[in-house]
Amino acid sequence: MKDMTLGIGLVGTSFMGKAHSNAWMSAPKFFELPMHVNMRAVAGTTVQDVAEFAQRWGWQCCTDDWKDLLSDPQVGLIDNCTPNYVHAEVAIAALAAGKHVACEKPLAGTLADARAMRDAAAKAAKKGVRTFVWFNYRRCPAVAFAHQLVKEGKLGRIFHVRASYLQDWGGPSTPLLWRFQGKLAGSGAHGDLNAHIVDMARFITGQEVTEVVGALEETFVKERDIIESSGGAIAGKGAKRTARGSRKGKSTVDDAVLFLARMSGGAVASFEATRLATGNQNRNQIEVNGEKGSFKFDFERMNELQWWDHTLPARMRGWSRIMCTDASHPYAGNYWPAAHVLGYEHGFVSQAADTAMVLGKKKPVVAIPDFADAYETQRVLEAAIRCARTRRPVAISEVK
Ligand SMILES: NC(=O)c1ccc[n+]([C@@H]2O[C@H](COP(=O)([O-])OP(=O)(O)OC[C@H]3O[C@@H](n4cnc5c(N)ncnc54)[C@H](O)[C@@H]3O)[C@@H](O)[C@H]2O)c1
Repeated sequence: MKDMTLGIGLVGTSFMGKAHSNAWMSAPKFFELPMHVNMRAVAGTTVQDVAEFAQRWGWQCCTDDWKDLLSDPQVGLIDNCTPNYVHAEVAIAALAAGKHVACEKPLAGTLADARAMRDAAAKAAKKGVRTFVWFNYRRCPAVAFAHQLVKEGKLGRIFHVRASYLQDWGGPSTPLLWRFQGKLAGSGAHGDLNAHIVDMARFITGQEVTEVVGALEETFVKERDIIESSGGAIAGKGAKRTARGSRKGKSTVDDAVLFLARMSGGAVASFEATRLATGNQNRNQIEVNGEKGSFKFDFERMNELQWWDHTLPARMRGWSRIMCTDASHPYAGNYWPAAHVLGYEHGFVSQAADTAMVLGKKKPVVAIPDFADAYETQRVLEAAIRCARTRRPVAISEVK
C-alpha cells in the first residue's frame, strides 16, 4: 500500500511539457513506484492554451501563472520545462517554497544562473528538498548499459571518448526562435546539445573533464526572420512570421561548437555539437575505446549498442550489435518483450519513475544528476566557450 503521494506541478506546455506529461502519466503504469504520482497542476503562458493542454494530458488543474503552483500544498515537485532563461527564476523560487525541483537541461543559460541554482539547491537540501535535471539520454537502456559495462571493468583503461550530437533543423530558413537569442538561450547548439553529450561522457566513464585544450565556435547563419509566435515546434514550423518583406534579427548564439578535452582518468575526449549537420536529424553519438573493449552508441538506433570485445582471440574479434531490449538490460524489462523496441519518450518515463523512486527512498536504476552534478557539466561548457574565445587551454578548475 502506497501511503505517500508525489504531487507534480508542471511549468511549460510545449515540446518538453508534452514529453514530461506523458512521462508522469506512464511511469506508474510501467514501474512499481513507492509513491502515488498525482498530476496536480500545470502552468502555461495563456489561459486558453494551458486549459486545453491540461485537459488533453490529464492535469487536475491549470494556471497561467507558475507562482500559483508554489502555494499549492498538494504540489510536492515543480517540473520545469521552460526556456533556459526561465529556469533559474522558477527553480530558485520553488526551492525556497520547499518544493523538490526537476529541471530541464541545460541547468541554465548562463554560468551565473546555474551557480545560483546550485547554491539554492544546496541550501534547500538541508531541509530534505531534492533536485533533478532531465538529462534523459542517461536512461536509454543502451547508454545505462554502457555505464554498467564501464563500472564492471569490461573496457579496462579508457583511452578515447568521441562524442557528437548532430542535428540539422537550424538552417537559414529557421526563424529567430528563443533558441537563437543569446539572452534567452545562453548559447546555441552548445548548451542545447553539447550539454547532453558532456553529461553522457561523464556518466558513462565515471571520469570528470579536467581541461579543455582546444575549441571553436561558429555561427553560420547570422540573421534570421523575426517571428510573432513560435508555433511550438523545435524548428519553428508553424511559427507566425512578421508581415511580408519580413524583418530580420541577429542570431546571437553559436550554430556549432567543437572542442577537445582531457578527462580525470587519463582519457582524451572530443565533443561536437551542431544544428546544421544536414542529414543528421538527431544523431547523438558516443564512442568509447578502452584497453579491453570499445562501444558505440547512436541515438538514431537507440535500442542498439555496438560492442567490440578485445579480450577474445584475434580471430574471433568483431563488432557485435547488442539489442538492449532484454529484461536484463537497464529499464528494458519494465516495458515490452525483447526487441519490441523503445523510443524517445521512454527515457523520460524512466526518469520520472526514478525521480519517484528517489523521493520514495528507493534506489533509481542509474543516478539522476542533481543541480550540483549538472553544474559540473555547465562548468565544462563554460570552459569550452572561454577556450574558443581566448584560443588558449582552459582548466575546469579555472571555472568556479
Ligand atoms: N531533454 C531534452 O532532450 C530536451 C529536448 C528539448 C528541449 N529541452 C529543454 O527543455 C526546455 C524547454 O524546451 P522546449 O523545447 O519545450 O521549449 P518550447 O519553446 O517548445 O516550450 C517552452 C514552454 O515554456 C513556456 N514558458 C515560457 N516562459 C514561461 C514562463 N515565464 N512561465 C510559464 N511558462 C513559460 C512556453 O509557453 C512553452 O510552453 C529548454 O530548457 C530546453 O533546453 C530538453
